[in-house]
Amino acid sequence: MRTLTLTNQKGGVGKSAAATMLAHYLRSLGHRVLCLDFDHQGNFTEPLTKSGKCMVSSVTADKLMTDPEATVEDAPMVLVPQDKLPLQALERSPDRYNEFAKNLRGFLARHGDRFDFAIIDTNPAPDIRMLAALVASDFALAPITLTQEAIDGLADLYNHPRVGIFMLQQRGYNRRLRFLGMLPMLVKKTTFQLSVLELLMSTPAYRQHLLTMVDDPKTGNDFARIREADVIREYQAAGQFLGSGRKTAAREAWSEVKPVLHRIATLMGAA
Ligand SMILES: Nc1ncnc2c1ncn2[C@@H]1O[C@H](COP(=O)(O)OP(=O)(O)OP(=O)(O)O)[C@@H](O)[C@H]1O
Ligand SMILES: [Mg+2]
Repeated sequence: MRTLTLTNQKGGVGKSAAATMLAHYLRSLGHRVLCLDFDHQGNFTEPLTKSGKCMVSSVTADKLMTDPEATVEDAPMVLVPQDKLPLQALERSPDRYNEFAKNLRGFLARHGDRFDFAIIDTNPAPDIRMLAALVASDFALAPITLTQEAIDGLADLYNHPRVGIFMLQQRGYNRRLRFLGMLPMLVKKTTFQLSVLELLMSTPAYRQHLLTMVDDPKTGNDFARIREADVIREYQAAGQFLGSGRKTAAREAWSEVKPVLHRIATLMGAA
C-alpha cells in the first residue's frame, strides 16, 4: 500500500476536493482505496459517504491514532470517517504524540496487503494529525491557490518547524516521504493569477516543487493545474464523481482534471 497525504496549512485551497477526486479515480482504475479523514470539518467524509461508493468504517479516524489495534472492514473502497470531538482532542495530549504517530504507522502497516492506496485528507493546521499523517506517508501533495497569501505561506509548507515537508525529510522523521509537488487549484485566468503562476514557474526554488505533467518540463503547459469550475464545486458538494458526470460542463472539466489525477496516480506507481 502507498500512502498519500494532502497537505497545506492554508485553508480552502482544494485539499479535500483533490483527495476526493483522486480516491474515486484510483478506484475507477481498479485499485483498492482506503480513505482517511483527519479533518473534523468532514469535507472528505461527506462527499465520499454521499457517493455511495465507499464502505464507511465503524472505526473513526481518531482511533487510528489512539488504538494500537484499530482495524477496518474489508471492501474495495473504505472510508475511515472523522469524528469531530475526539479528533480535536488529540492535540491536547502532547505526552501521547509519539504514541499517536506510532499507532497510525502500525495501522497502515497492518493494512498494507489489504489496500493499494491510502489517501489522507488533513485539516489546515500544523497539528499532531498533520504531523502523524506526514510521518506515515510515502507521498505528499500540496494543493495551493494562486494568491499572495498562498505564496507567503509556502515557506511554512516546506520549513515549518513541526510539519514542514523538507524539515521532516531532512531531520529524518520520514526520509522516504516524496513530495509530488504543489498543485495550483481553483485557478482562474485573471491577470493576477496568471502572473503568480508565471512567478512560480520562473523562480527555481518554486519551479522545482510544482507538480509537473511530464518528467522534464519545458513549457508552461507541462505544469499541472486545475481550474476553478462551478461543476467541480457542485459535484464535490453532491458527492458525485466528476469522472462519471454526463453534463457537458462535467465532461469538459473532467477532460482537464483527469490527466492531472492520472499523473499523480502514475507518480505513485498506480497507472
Ligand atoms: N477546481 C475547483 N473549482 C471549483 N471549486 C473548487 C475547486 N476545487 C475546490 N473547490 C471548492 O472550493 C472549496 C474549498 O475546497 P476544499 O474544501 O477542497 O479546500 P481545503 O483545502 O480542503 O479546505 P480546508 O483547509 O478548509 O480543509 C470547496 O467548496 C470545494 O468544493
Ligand atoms: Mg479540507
